[in-house]
Amino acid sequence: MRAAVVTAYGAAPRYLEFPDPKPAGAHEIVVEVLAAGLHPRVRMQAGGSHYTSAGSGLPLVPGIDGVGRDAGGRLWYFMSLNGRYGSMAERAVIDTRRSVVLPAHADPLAIAATLNCVIASWLALTQRISMRPGQNVLVLGATGGTGRMAVRVARRLGADQVVAVGRDPERLAALPGATATAVTGDVETIAGIGAGIDIVLDFLWGEPAAEAMAAMVSNRADPARLLTWVNLGEMAGPRMTLPAGALRSTRLQVLGSGQGSLTGVTMTAEIPAVAAAIVDGAYAVEPDPVPLHDVERAWSLPADSSKRIVLHRL
Ligand SMILES: NC(=O)c1ccc[n+]([C@@H]2O[C@H](COP(=O)([O-])OP(=O)(O)OC[C@H]3O[C@@H](n4cnc5c(N)ncnc54)[C@H](OP(=O)(O)O)[C@@H]3O)[C@@H](O)[C@H]2O)c1
Repeated sequence: MRAAVVTAYGAAPRYLEFPDPKPAGAHEIVVEVLAAGLHPRVRMQAGGSHYTSAGSGLPLVPGIDGVGRDAGGRLWYFMSLNGRYGSMAERAVIDTRRSVVLPAHADPLAIAATLNCVIASWLALTQRISMRPGQNVLVLGATGGTGRMAVRVARRLGADQVVAVGRDPERLAALPGATATAVTGDVETIAGIGAGIDIVLDFLWGEPAAEAMAAMVSNRADPARLLTWVNLGEMAGPRMTLPAGALRSTRLQVLGSGQGSLTGVTMTAEIPAVAAAIVDGAYAVEPDPVPLHDVERAWSLPADSSKRIVLHRL
């Protein structure tokens, strides 16, 4: 088959011949891949820098999820958590226990662009922690695909206040669902509106997260009120400094949500509800479709967090 193939970490994948993946168990079937999102996580996988990269080896087909059609015509959303055979190929083997059948009228591009962005905060708020209606949420990195969806997910799960923090003031102002906004690095504003926050969904880490955490911790209205900091991504850097005093002076709890801290079973169990909400129009990330054979061009397109590149064969 033809596939996007990574032969060297850091170089763009090329459209090359690659061995067909073979089903190995009773739960595995082959699908013709129709669409696969080029998420930041996929760039990390292709660059060898994701925490799951160790030991996966090269060459590999990138892509962590996609939409495909089986021999019987059914449309599936699937996750490809096997490091070697990803979704950016003509065909993929899917584990039906990690996949869901979509309604026949579901748009493969819309699902491939949106589902990963929605499920990130959905799983964090429902599975890693249990957000209660009426709690206040702050989203760091709120103008990106997952950040924008996180604002909506938090509101739909019953959050009272949802504070959106991002680096682009114009896009922040246009963000639906946010009850307040602050520009990344504006620590005074973040300290003020963050005083009564219960949960932070952090897609940035690095310096912006360190600054925001220090500002919020120093200004808690009630230091005994739990502040749960959930890391989901590292767009601003893989490390941050965590002052010991922050942990002792307030009830600060830091944890992460992602592959590993969430089991495959937990992640799969939530997919049907998320897929249904996308099909119903509750969540949408605009797809930027690029044919699979143009994968090298897709990789070179400038970063634009207002849309999601989707490699497709439609
Ligand atoms: N744990 C999970 O379950 C899970 C699931 C999906 C994604 N993620 C992770 O979440 C993160 C965001 O993914 P995404 O899909 O939202 O990506 P995206 O659509 O490309 O958005 C990236 C966001 O990060 C911001 N950003 C990038 N570099 C920055 C910097 N140096 N300083 C401050 N802000 C910066 C962007 O700001 P602009 O909008 O101004 O460009 C944008 O808001 C990634 O690390 C991804 O791996 C995690």
